[in-house]
Amino acid sequence: MSGAGPVASPTTVPEQAPTVSFLSNSSTTASVKIEAQAPFEAIRALFDHLHASPEDVAKLNATYAHRGVIKTAALHKTESDQKFTIDLSPMRNSRIPQEVRDSLAPHGLGEVLDFFNNLSAEYVPTILSSLSLLAGTDLSAAHKSYNMNYRLCDYNPHTADPKSLNGCGAHTDYGTFSIIFQDGTSGLELEETPGTWVPVPGDATVVLTGWCAVILSGGRVSAARHRVRRTPGMRRISAVLFIAPDLDVKLQPLGDAQPIKSFSEGIMRGDLDVETFKEVMGKRWRYREDNEEMKDGDSMSQDSEIEKMVWG
Ligand SMILES: [Fe+2]
Repeated sequence: MSGAGPVASPTTVPEQAPTVSFLSNSSTTASVKIEAQAPFEAIRALFDHLHASPEDVAKLNATYAHRGVIKTAALHKTESDQKFTIDLSPMRNSRIPQEVRDSLAPHGLGEVLDFFNNLSAEYVPTILSSLSLLAGTDLSAAHKSYNMNYRLCDYNPHTADPKSLNGCGAHTDYGTFSIIFQDGTSGLELEETPGTWVPVPGDATVVLTGWCAVILSGGRVSAARHRVRRTPGMRRISAVLFIAPDLDVKLQPLGDAQPIKSFSEGIMRGDLDVETFKEVMGKRWRYREDNEEMKDGDSMSQDSEIEKMVWG
């Protein structure tokens, strides 16, 4: 299936300018240097402010009533991932009324939005071209609209289960790639071979490829499962930029080259578009993160359901 493999930064990265290497099961490698630093002080301040201001949480969540912007299920659910998240995106941000934006700007929101906006403009095209080399096909045509999500994570010790080691359950990201910034605290782990988890240094910036990259590249790019383990009593902050193909893109191997893995008939026919795939994945995320009830009552893991769709 999806071997582990994409993308961890080397352990000797200089702190100022981490070089992020894509490692793939093909012989080609590419790397990109990410010099940006996430504004962790601003992110911490934003979470602290929101943890103390239920009225601002309500205002922010009202801008995206469908799923909410800040997720606090971990406050009362021991079985969900023990973390808080703030989910932003260019689309969501445009819905935040000026008044709410202005009131949260001094509490870190301004700096956070600037960071993500600059990051996406500066690095997404470069990373897409590096990834295109590995994929053996040009990925940029499938990424015209910059379908992005910005996520802040607060692995906060004060949750429903302070002793839990589960910060974020094992999963593979759905999109093309994700850039993860960490505040120096370890906890992120990659699955190297099934069941073998390798810690990523807490100060490394990593780029992880996801399911969409696996499919579009015909299996030339692989995607690593990852998870976050908590250290009880220790706070850990991360910031993640997710890039996915445009919503109307059909998820099938691109270009003329033969896929190097065997995909399901549905994938080869182009039955699945990004929007539908995101819905299926989202249902599983919410199950893991918010413990949303599954209507069909089944207990299949997110990855096994996706593998069934992708590999047939
Ligand atoms: Fe992830």
